[in-house]
Amino acid sequence: MELVLVSLCLLTFTGKTFGDKPDQTPITIKEDENVILPCSFSTSLTDKRIDWKKDGEDVFLYEMGEVNPSSQDEQFKGRISHFPDEVKSGNASITIKQAKVSDSGTYTCLYLNQGQTLPSGTHQIVLTVGEYFYRTLKD
Ligand SMILES: *[C@@H]1O[C@H](CO)[C@@H](O)[C@H](O)[C@H]1NC(C)=O
Repeated sequence: MELVLVSLCLLTFTGKTFGDKPDQTPITIKEDENVILPCSFSTSLTDKRIDWKKDGEDVFLYEMGEVNPSSQDEQFKGRISHFPDEVKSGNASITIKQAKVSDSGTYTCLYLNQGQTLPSGTHQIVLTVGEYFYRTLKD
């Protein structure tokens, strides 16, 4: 339990390094469920870069109108999908298939304009996948 609290503090802290404090949406689900991590911006994203990270790991990258899986972390391979038809209306949401306890953490969704290195918009999702609760209750 202590470990969980410590890592939550760290996550909160790293979230702040983005400057403006991003919106945070908490989501709690059970293990093995599919979960949509919602993220949308009020601009078309077809010509932008969409970047999802979890605590520094690469979750999902979309650039030049295509998904780029080259730097995706092993843990997420084959388990992430997005909504290609919705990208033009600013919807950068992704789905994680069969969430695992180890998927829990803070996800950052951001978009960048071509040639820029600073995000033009950022959202965060704090995902908790079931088992933590059961563990806490049993301990
Ligand atoms: C994004 O698109 C998906 C699939 O159509 C939908 O379920 C979700 O509600 C949309 N999210 C937003 C924020 O519009």
